[in-house]
Amino acid sequence: MNGTETAGAALTGTIRTLTPREMPLLRDHLLRLDRDSRRNRFNGVVDDSFIESYTAKCASDGTIVVAYLTDGEVHGAAELHQPDQSSDHLPEMAFSVEREVRRQGLGSLLFKKVLEAAVRAGFERVRITTGSENEAMKSLARKFGAHLTFGHGESTGIIELKKAAAPSIAADLPQTSLRASTGKRALKVATPADFARASLAFGRWYWRQVFRAWDLQRPA
Ligand SMILES: CC(C)(COP(=O)(O)OP(=O)(O)OC[C@H]1O[C@@H](n2cnc3c(N)ncnc32)[C@H](O)[C@@H]1OP(=O)(O)O)[C@@H](O)C(=O)NCCC(=O)NCCS
Repeated sequence: MNGTETAGAALTGTIRTLTPREMPLLRDHLLRLDRDSRRNRFNGVVDDSFIESYTAKCASDGTIVVAYLTDGEVHGAAELHQPDQSSDHLPEMAFSVEREVRRQGLGSLLFKKVLEAAVRAGFERVRITTGSENEAMKSLARKFGAHLTFGHGESTGIIELKKAAAPSIAADLPQTSLRASTGKRALKVATPADFARASLAFGRWYWRQVFRAWDLQRPA
């Protein structure tokens, strides 16, 4: 995603990827999260200096950050960490939406956008890990086809981008504010015929992303 996009109707900001130089905006957003949200985001207690060094690392290790911005500040983010950052070489996603803008579809919109970025980057699957009691994140992940398994106090889900996620992305279009974000006519997935049309639309979208992949590789 090279340009900016308008977020949902109730949200007045824009959604776009951050450049590495803009990672201080991610840092400030993560620092603004209230205590519980920060614990949920990192699945544990972390202090400010951890967030400082974490976001500095994001600026240098190829992390893709899709962010929701208003007035030059980030208030929601979806991070996609490179596969070499994990022991089993799976790209990992993480999400954070400030309390004031929650439950308006922003988490869903960021989820969709970061999956698109993962497809453009050529990944076949991505992982989401969250606290086993984080109902909001578990529910969001399931919405996009993640099958969560529980272990060591965490819930982990893999999203297969070529299989499970593809119809989920298409099917999700009419349910949230995604129409405003894409500027396209809403797709209704109410009947089998509608679903077929949605799948075709997704197919067209998918190949457009493939052809645009070269753009994603270019430095911002
Ligand atoms: C998880 C989080 C990103 C969701 O953001 P959001 O903008 O509220 O998400 P949405 O409005 O798109 O909601 C998506 C779905 O999540 C579910 N959901 C959201 N908040 C919920 C809650 N408090 N309890 C139960 N389900 C919830 C709903 O099913 C919702 O879908 P619906 O509105 O179609 O029913 C946000 O709560 C957050 O940042 N939490 C703190 C950080 C965190 O936990 N990060 C996850 C670790 S990676």
